Amino acid sequence: MDRLEIDGPCRLQGEVRASGAKNAALPIMAASLLAAAPLRLARVPALADVRTMGRLLADLGCSVRQDESDPGGWTLDASALSSCHADYELVRTMRASILVLGPLLARLGEAEVSLPGGCAIGARPVQVHLDGLRALGAEVAVRDGYIRARAERLVGARVVMDQVSVTGTEVLLMAACLADGDTVLENAAREPEVVDLAVCLRAMGAKIRGEGTSTIQVQGVGRLGAAEHRIQPDRIETGTFLAAAALTRGQVCVRDTDPQLLEAVLRKLRLAGAALRTGADWIELDMGGKRPRAVDISTAPHPAFPTDMQAQFCALNAVAEGVGVVTENVFENRFQHVLELSRMGADIRIEHNTAVVIGREALDPAPVMATDLRASASLVIAALAAQGTTVVNRIYHLDRGYERIEDKLAGLGAAVRRVK
Ligand code: EPZ
Repeated sequence: MDRLEIDGPCRLQGEVRASGAKNAALPIMAASLLAAAPLRLARVPALADVRTMGRLLADLGCSVRQDESDPGGWTLDASALSSCHADYELVRTMRASILVLGPLLARLGEAEVSLPGGCAIGARPVQVHLDGLRALGAEVAVRDGYIRARAERLVGARVVMDQVSVTGTEVLLMAACLADGDTVLENAAREPEVVDLAVCLRAMGAKIRGEGTSTIQVQGVGRLGAAEHRIQPDRIETGTFLAAAALTRGQVCVRDTDPQLLEAVLRKLRLAGAALRTGADWIELDMGGKRPRAVDISTAPHPAFPTDMQAQFCALNAVAEGVGVVTENVFENRFQHVLELSRMGADIRIEHNTAVVIGREALDPAPVMATDLRASASLVIAALAAQGTTVVNRIYHLDRGYERIEDKLAGLGAAVRRVK
């Protein structure tokens, strides 16, 4: 298993380019199943999860081609689907495989998708997804660890989702595009990745209104066609680099991004004492060499502070001035990084879904272990503030969501080595 060796302390300086968003690319790749025509994508990030989704689509009979010249260019053509079965062996490696359930059912009238298991951060149920498909007229049974859904043709309906669910909203949005009649999705997720999916579906011929609000309206059409789409920038990768810049008291400009995608995160970085300048596709953070101030965080669905940035802000608070209270309201077990940060000398006390972080001037280097994608990111950026060499183990978690993170950090002056 690969690990990263990171020498601290260091001050990040310079420019870094954001990659395409993992959580936009995954649903948009699944959307290719809806059309018997090519979907041409640009700026698809080179990530393990994206490769897994590519393999899953190919197993279903979708033709999957990556440009030789540009690895971010993918062409997906589901004209000749040969299966509706998403196997456990693939699904267990990536929960987001559930995203193919809606498009398969809408296109083929049936879908058989392994139940995505839980993961380190929680049970991750999919009740919203299944209840919503039933509301659209599907028969959905769960047996032997598989979801089996059938529907001659889905019928538009008003669906009120019990929980705000990002992939739940995306699965139902894709299914509704080919349903007979109109659908209204209430209590829909407002995440930017849902908006990016809707923009891509509209380019394919879907009739959608209200994406980015809690109520999305879809007018079902008979079929979708060919389209091109450029994946939106990754707001969590952007936020991760900005948090690392603040934590190391540096000055970093993130390019090829969009400040409007992470306004709640930028607000908190300003409260931490960062000077922020933004343009249409760039964000510059300058700490002026000052130690960050601790900030209080409370995660919630977009447009509130994103749960995917919670671990990174625990690392920031760990070396900030003062006490930061971090409350995780979205997932039931998303403080795995706290145990590892404590091994680095962080002073953090957990009470239920709240972590009270008392900032220290610096952290100690220590061998630590990544447990999930964003936890591993918080350990990597914490290591930049440690007095010595930190080893982060099991970084396959990191490779699922961050494209070449060690190269990008090295480009900002960090001393990071990947060790096989
Ligand atoms: C998406 O997961 C993201 N993944 C997650 O990013 C992100 O953390 C999450 O949304 C929240 O923003 C992708 O987009 C591929 P949810 P998703 O359904 O859709 C509960 C990362 O780091 N819930 O919005 O699986 C659920 O347990 C990943 O890139 C139910 O209780 O999340 C959770 O506590 C991690 N019942 C909360 O809602 C349901 O039927 C939000 O889950 C569905 C969800």
